[in-house]
Amino acid sequence: MNLLDGKEVSTKIKEDIKRETAELTEKLGRKPHLVAILVGNDGGSETYVASKMRNCEQVGFDSTNLHYDTDITEEALLNKIKEINADDSIDGLIVQLPLPKHIDPDKVTEAIDYRKDVDGFHPINLGRMQRNLPCFIPATPYGIMLMLAHYGIDTAGKKAVVVGRSNIVGSPMSILLARNSNPGNCTVTLTHSRTKDIKSEILQGDIIVAAIGKKNFVTADMVKEGAIVIDVGINRETSTETKSGFKLYGDVDFEQVAPKASWITPVPGGVGLMTIIGLLKNTLEAAKGTVYPKS
Ligand code: GUN
Repeated sequence: MNLLDGKEVSTKIKEDIKRETAELTEKLGRKPHLVAILVGNDGGSETYVASKMRNCEQVGFDSTNLHYDTDITEEALLNKIKEINADDSIDGLIVQLPLPKHIDPDKVTEAIDYRKDVDGFHPINLGRMQRNLPCFIPATPYGIMLMLAHYGIDTAGKKAVVVGRSNIVGSPMSILLARNSNPGNCTVTLTHSRTKDIKSEILQGDIIVAAIGKKNFVTADMVKEGAIVIDVGINRETSTETKSGFKLYGDVDFEQVAPKASWITPVPGGVGLMTIIGLLKNTLEAAKGTVYPKS
């Protein structure tokens, strides 16, 4: 078993980003700038946004966290997004999901200028990704692809089974793995809550991407000997064992599955760290104007 070590890969890529950021800041006369909008008081979301902001500062970006109460109206939020779209000093904008029930996440996603959509959730970015055109790729799938590339894992011709069809991870992951690119060129099965006999589907996977949001869902009896196992789960439970008062569990039963896997990501220390890298890379690319030229 080999570890796909998010700490090692993210530390290396972060150094590259930091160096490029210093050069770009010199050239532009300002730092790349990411704005994150957070609505409400979901503990997980607050932690993730704080980590994103901290990482931005570490690589030399400006970052702004706009935190609104749960009762902000959809209209007020959409107006704020319009304002940010028009502000040339801001390169990237993300709205942390999930949003409260009275706000339509599709309306919010589509309101963001696709050229600032560093989460890669806008339909224009999704469509361009599917066509293998320059675009912003959603941070978690992007981070996973960077990790596979870092370890030189040959994915071509392999059977990939993605567990979970979310807009944020499963669905874009299935597109990226199937694309004619490297990593990519997999034969992809996208499984979900209505899949019949999900265990036999997962058992076929040379590559398994677990993104279903259920603690220890993937057990050893579902995993083929030698499989590459990518665990996207960050299931947060209160704990007296840790300083933060929370403990994270993956979607994969690591203890049981690791001995069968050729490569596996730990939780924490795996995909979560790579998600941050995907976001930082997209923000840097937005500031550079390499994906969409600055007008
Ligand atoms: N919620 C869970 N993951 C993400 C993400 O990558 N971006 C945003 N905006 N919200 C999320």
